[in-house]
Amino acid sequence: MSNNNASVVITVDGPSGAGKGTVCAILAETLGWHLLDSGALYRITGLAADRKGLTLDDEAAVADVAAGLDVRFEPTSQGVRVILEGDDVTTTIRTEEVGSLASQVAALPKVREALLQRQRDFRQAPGLVADGRDMGTVVFTDAEIKIFLTASAEERGQRRYKQLTEKGINASLPALIEDIRVRDERDSNRAVAPLRPATDATVIDSTSMTIEDVREEILTLVRQAGLI
Ligand code: DC
Repeated sequence: MSNNNASVVITVDGPSGAGKGTVCAILAETLGWHLLDSGALYRITGLAADRKGLTLDDEAAVADVAAGLDVRFEPTSQGVRVILEGDDVTTTIRTEEVGSLASQVAALPKVREALLQRQRDFRQAPGLVADGRDMGTVVFTDAEIKIFLTASAEERGQRRYKQLTEKGINASLPALIEDIRVRDERDSNRAVAPLRPATDATVIDSTSMTIEDVREEILTLVRQAGLI
């Protein structure tokens, strides 16, 4: 499906914990553009397939679930609410358990294909900030600006640890770092859409940067490109 003459897109790809979600939400808000959280689509697909009692290696059945997802994204003052078949799954899809389901279904080519057009449909005026793993390499190859945002596994583990303990959730830092490494490995080595920077992406290592630093660096690129 062609994206010719479509609205502008900034793609932000990279591993989990690099700060993509936060940065993309801030960018979309600052620019007044739409936001695509593509990871949420994989999380919702994993959850929906699990709820239907499917085994996640049943590629055709999981792809059918992905193609027929009855999901709504409802913006609220507290962020976007995610409604799956009438059920509010906003919090559920953020759990480690659903993250693992997402990582498994994301490895299935037919599932990725089934979600392709749904993701491209988010490209609407005045612009889109697309957060994911393959936004610049597969979904929006003609994006005006492509960012690959990364950080060391240790730093990402620390950030996740802080998030969880602040919520009062017990966590083990070494286990979190190990989990991040395993997930990176699976995401980087899968046959379809492996996690890697697009050849024309700007790589930003956020290990010793604040969210504001990252936001400014990306906004500078947006200005330099004459998009704002
Ligand atoms: O960004 P996240 O943690 O919500 O992503 C959940 C999973 O989905 C993660 O294992 C990577 C995968 N994913 C993907 O393969 N492609 C995307 N565009 C977004 C997420």
